[in-house]
Amino acid sequence: KRSYSITLLPGDGIGPEVTAIAKNVLVLAGSLEGIKFDFREMLLGGAALDETGVPLPDETLAVAKQSDAILLGAIGGYKWDKFEKHLKPETGLLQIREGLKVFANLRPAIVFPQLVDASALKREIVEGVDLMVVRELTGGIYFGKPRGFGSDENGEETGFNTEIYAAYEVDRIARFAFEIARKRRGKLCSVDKANVLEASMFWRKRVQTMALEYPDVELSHMYVDNASMQLVRYPKQFDTILTNNIFGDILSDEASMITGSIGMLPSASLGDSGPGLFEPIHGSAPDIAGQDKANPCATVLSAAMLLKYGLGEDDAAERIENAVLDTLNRGFRTADIHSDGTKLVGCKQMGEEIMKSVESQVPAA
Ligand code: NAD
Ligand code: IPM
Ligand code: MN
Repeated sequence: KRSYSITLLPGDGIGPEVTAIAKNVLVLAGSLEGIKFDFREMLLGGAALDETGVPLPDETLAVAKQSDAILLGAIGGYKWDKFEKHLKPETGLLQIREGLKVFANLRPAIVFPQLVDASALKREIVEGVDLMVVRELTGGIYFGKPRGFGSDENGEETGFNTEIYAAYEVDRIARFAFEIARKRRGKLCSVDKANVLEASMFWRKRVQTMALEYPDVELSHMYVDNASMQLVRYPKQFDTILTNNIFGDILSDEASMITGSIGMLPSASLGDSGPGLFEPIHGSAPDIAGQDKANPCATVLSAAMLLKYGLGEDDAAERIENAVLDTLNRGFRTADIHSDGTKLVGCKQMGEEIMKSVESQVPAA
């Protein structure tokens, strides 16, 4: 029997609610495909801060690094918002991404036919959308120095950050995106702000150079303000989107709403070597935490990405993806994707229905 070690990082807010479900789904899908998992649950974010005084304990990073893959819920919450930067739950998340060197964040946005009416956009705009945001995850303004608080020449207080990319950072994420576009529909759109920012002018130049190695991929460039407009005007024009850390953060939340809800979008964060980190794109949703209202699909689909991109277990991954579709087909919906004629359920029941669907899947030939 194949066996893998998985680090579970439930985090805060709805994180523990959705990871509990994704873990059960993983165990079941795994057992049906001859896979065994050995889980270790570790602290991250506000939960870690409360218990250990830091948002990323050394032990969490060490265990994560030694495992085969990491499944993360979400971190953050009002309770910790007043903490200093180095103690914030969000800092713990950035530190683990950096510590694992997972520079490539894949955020697929696929419109499931069952959820077309859950989208805020018209049916004809969203039907058939299938795009992939490739977000640079360990560089740019999130990590650039100098950063901090200071004062200007007039003694006015300031806050500042630096958008900076080194050649190797642009090259490795660009290569990643070209490879992905090549396996998809062969179209890559690099999103930047090269009309204003030097970091973007440099980004565009490196991407153009990389394109010489990928003559089979059709490359285009778009300014981020236009891209955010085009995403809601005509999202089907996009196949693979390559962008920096902060633009990718914003555009992927926007893309999620095309699919019906932010509660549907998974992600995979990968590096050149070592374990991948898999997490929904949404946050800890403190407004609905503890109320059994969260949509677990984004985390369940992240578990599917873990199997596919992290472990190469494509059959088990497909089993989970099909189970989510089957559950939607059977009419079950959490509040965020609920529409007339469908069955409104809570997080736990949605999880139970997904489990039933996992079990009823015919094993792959
Ligand atoms: P959020 O994604 O947590 O929530 C935004 C809105 O979407 C809320 O109304 C929420 O109820 C809803 N929502 C999110 N996930 C949902 C789900 N699975 N099912 C149903 N509804 C869902 O973003 P926010 O409110 O801006 O941030 C809340 C906290 O989460 C902050 O502390 C933020 O820093 C943190 N955050 C963490 C991550 C992460 O862990 N990767 C990502 C984003 C935000
Ligand atoms: C995300 C989140 C994080 C980010 C925050 C919580 C640090 O918004 O995963 O999308 O900005 O990357
Ligand atoms: Mn985000």
